Amino acid sequence: MAQNPSLAPLSSLANPPYNRLLAYPSGDLDEVESRVRQLSKLGITALDFQGRLKTDRLSVLGKGVVGIVITGVRDDRRIAVKIRRVDARRPNLIHEAELLKSANSLSVGPECLGGTPDVLAMELIEGLSLPLWLESLKGRGRRARVRGMVKPLLEQCLRMDAYGLDHGELSRAHKNVIVSNDNWARILDFESASVMRRPSNFTSLAQYLFLGGSIARKMLRVLGPVDRHELLRCLRDYKAGGWKDAFEATTKVLGLD
Ligand SMILES: Nc1ncnc2c1ncn2[C@@H]1O[C@H](COP(=O)(O)OP(=O)(O)O)[C@@H](O)[C@H]1O
Ligand SMILES: [Mg+2]
Repeated sequence: MAQNPSLAPLSSLANPPYNRLLAYPSGDLDEVESRVRQLSKLGITALDFQGRLKTDRLSVLGKGVVGIVITGVRDDRRIAVKIRRVDARRPNLIHEAELLKSANSLSVGPECLGGTPDVLAMELIEGLSLPLWLESLKGRGRRARVRGMVKPLLEQCLRMDAYGLDHGELSRAHKNVIVSNDNWARILDFESASVMRRPSNFTSLAQYLFLGGSIARKMLRVLGPVDRHELLRCLRDYKAGGWKDAFEATTKVLGLD
């Protein structure tokens, strides 16, 4: 690993070009040093600037409104590290870490590996965002792969709804769902999640996947025609409280069984 040019030990992170990403966007030195201490406390020994997204000419896993997500190294294992932006609307990541742990108790989300006010350590999820995954599917077997991905994903939503954990951003799931090579879909980013709202994970995601814009059109092209009225009726029944039955009815309408 010593030869890996993208690998940056903690001791190098207070220097350019890394410092700005550690306390994005100001790069304030006190903040950067505090974050390096927090990384160290979590057992992280280095950051590895690899990933699909380039920001400040460094490769990262992602950049959102709350954090910059970078590959981290802990015990020779690669993990994902979300570092709070200093301009984030959230004062800290503690609440997010707690909600992620609740999700984990339902086998949802990347495993939470510890958190401090400005750093959230979690399992690294490798794969493609839903739109890229859909585009990557080729040839025969496409329908089976989409069916195999969709049902367990909807089941994750059903479990969160039953528990009372609302993700909050599943109606715009293009960034918040990653599908790994084995077709397994993982839900990310619990920063907008809440246990205080009435949950609408299942209906939000179903709307995005099958009734909304370009993703829905692509999904239905692969899955085959779906009775839109029937689907809407299922979602209405679900909202009215008939969760389990409406879920089963939905999977039938979508031809997932
Ligand atoms: N555990 C993870 N493994 C791999 N990539 C991740 C992980 N968490 C987040 N990402 C990537 O980083 C991006 C931003 O993360 P996100 O949690 O959405 O941040 P924000 O709360 O700032 O919106 C995601 O869209 C995703 O591409
Ligand atoms: Mg996000």
